[in-house]
Amino acid sequence: MEEKEKLKVFYELYERRKSVREFADRGIEPDKLARLLMTLNRAQSAANRQPWHFIVAEKKGREELNALLYKEGFRNAPVIIAACADPGSAWVRKADKVNYSWVDVSIAVTEMIGAATAEGIGTCWIASLEPDKVKAALGVPARMDIVALVAIGYPTAELVKENKSRKSLGEIIHYGKW
Ligand SMILES: Cc1cc2nc3c(=O)[nH]c(=O)nc-3n(C[C@H](O)[C@H](O)[C@H](O)COP(=O)(O)O)c2cc1C
Repeated sequence: MEEKEKLKVFYELYERRKSVREFADRGIEPDKLARLLMTLNRAQSAANRQPWHFIVAEKKGREELNALLYKEGFRNAPVIIAACADPGSAWVRKADKVNYSWVDVSIAVTEMIGAATAEGIGTCWIASLEPDKVKAALGVPARMDIVALVAIGYPTAELVKENKSRKSLGEIIHYGKW
């Protein structure tokens, strides 16, 4: 593939990605799922601490977790991944003691979402949840934080470019100083 074509493919991924909340009744092929999971330990993290664990919950045997989801569409996702942060093993910024575990987990999830988009698979972050109940349903140790669940599966409609409502670059980019 030519350099120009490679760049086009890369940037088009960002155009195509969107949150998917309705999933087709179709499982994710094991090799594809394996490729998505591989991105999770390729991701960058502060001081390379990798303060994360991920629980892969397939539809079968997910009744307890499904009962905690607030959208029917999410319950139909063939895979839900619980992204867990381990603040105790993360890098902490000295100056203000900010713990980077949630940043690191979010980066790993975002890498996986990019790969899913490339595979034609839809995803949706689910942060709207009750963490204590999700932890109990999935047997997550008390020291861990549930950053989010990620619903993953083939979308009911094709992933195509959408005109997304976004702040303009002028509103959010500051050159030199604020
Ligand atoms: C950290 C985070 C948490 C989110 N939590 C939810 C959620 O609980 N439920 C939901 O339907 N969408 C959730 N979303 C999806 C956002 O609503 C969505 O990304 C945003 O509206 C922009 O739309 P797009 O993803 O289609 O570009 C979340 C997204 C992020 C990044």
